[in-house]
Amino acid sequence: MIVCHCNVLTKAMISEAIEGLIDDDPYQLITPGVVYRELGKRGKCCGCFPQVVGLIVQRLEEFQTSNPSITLERSLAGIAAASLHTASVRPALKPD
Ligand code: FES
Repeated sequence: MIVCHCNVLTKAMISEAIEGLIDDDPYQLITPGVVYRELGKRGKCCGCFPQVVGLIVQRLEEFQTSNPSITLERSLAGIAAASLHTASVRPALKPD
């Protein structure tokens, strides 16, 4: 399933990049921009970013479930902040 039509990125490609970032450092702040940089891409219309945020949260929750000794509250809080930022930026990107 294609999530990002501008960059032709599938859900599997994005999920794999997220998992790699979590494996590198589960405490880092993972945003759609970080994921796309990992894939060598950039957001263009950024319409896919809310879906990417959902995938990031999903993968972090799966990681947390399989690693209960690691607390990821900081990472999830970062995602929530990034999500709010994305929501506040998007209206500015829409044409008048
Ligand atoms: S759909 Fe992903 S940047 Fe446009």
